[in-house]
Amino acid sequence: MDAKIEMPSMRGQKVLITGGLGFIGSNLAHKCLQLGAQVTIFDCLDPRSGGNLFNIHDIRGSIELVHQDIQDFSSVCQHILDKNIIFNCAASTSHAFSMREPWIDLDVNSRGVVNLLEAIRRFNRQTCFIHIGTSTQLGKLQYDIADERHPEFPTDIYSANKCVSEKYVLIYAKSHAINASVIRLSNVFGPRASIHSPDFTFNNYFIGLAFQNKDITVYGKGEQLRNVIYVEDAISAIIMASQNARANGETFFAVGDEHFSVAQIAEATVECIGSGAVKYIEWPRSRKIIEVGNAIISNKKIKEYLGWKPMDDLKRGLMKTKVFYEKCLQEYLR
Ligand SMILES: NC(=O)c1ccc[n+]([C@@H]2O[C@H](COP(=O)([O-])OP(=O)(O)OC[C@H]3O[C@@H](n4cnc5c(N)ncnc54)[C@H](O)[C@@H]3O)[C@@H](O)[C@H]2O)c1
Repeated sequence: MDAKIEMPSMRGQKVLITGGLGFIGSNLAHKCLQLGAQVTIFDCLDPRSGGNLFNIHDIRGSIELVHQDIQDFSSVCQHILDKNIIFNCAASTSHAFSMREPWIDLDVNSRGVVNLLEAIRRFNRQTCFIHIGTSTQLGKLQYDIADERHPEFPTDIYSANKCVSEKYVLIYAKSHAINASVIRLSNVFGPRASIHSPDFTFNNYFIGLAFQNKDITVYGKGEQLRNVIYVEDAISAIIMASQNARANGETFFAVGDEHFSVAQIAEATVECIGSGAVKYIEWPRSRKIIEVGNAIISNKKIKEYLGWKPMDDLKRGLMKTKVFYEKCLQEYLR
């Protein structure tokens, strides 16, 4: 592995993390604290998302926790006021749920983002806004290797709303001179994830199954290729975007350097966690219709603009993940 990247100090910075009880948001809260920031988490603990109070049990005394919803505009206005940085990690994150309840997904993943942007435009134009997008906005890739210029044809409602909300962010950056940017993530894995449900990122679900010594079910031969990224690397990308003026108005993919087949990810999970088994079955129709084939994505732009690079490959990330869940597995299986 290369030399570590230098993380900027955040001393004296007041940050608001919406969705800070979830997987990405809580890891971000830990890192911002470590870097010296004052952290406020704004989260409604949506039962359908991956929020978990245990995610902040060790930092509870060092942060402010606001139990509120980004759909509540007046509450959003109140809490963005004095913040130097607003990281938006709040989202309704289940692709499957978005297909069953499209209005709820629309309200949180699109209208909720407009609430944040409009509150910033009216009451805190000096702040820096970092929004999290997703590679699934692209849908079935038109070419390999996809970059930020790739067209977007999302195949589920969640991804469609993530796609449009990203455009709202870019419109506010351009038309209202708001300092805002988007970090698109893909298959993030690691500590503090929702590992008990297939509704969220597949590789975290694989980790949960392996820990329970259950079969990891792979559809077909599991040949479709994916980028994965260890959560600490995703967090360093998000923070670096908040500290660099070159990020302003830009969208970046923060993905790992390598890509793997789903079968390889499943096999590596079993090997590193040390339990479970991989079982190959026929594709269910409901999954086949939203399957997008290979999804290989470039991280060239974020490396060039921000000097970011991922530090942990798949196996190193899985080994670190194992150490984390061994101590608190039951907190993540309910
Ligand atoms: N995990 C991944 O692999 C991945 C990949 C691509 C993009 N993302 C994006 O990263 C962001 C964070 O995802 P995550 O994996 O941490 O999800 P998560 O489900 O673990 O966390 C989402 C958090 O948002 C909160 N939330 C939901 N609705 C809310 C609302 N209306 N108001 C306030 N809080 C609300 C939930 O309670 C939860 O704590 C999302 O925007 C997601 O689209 C994640």
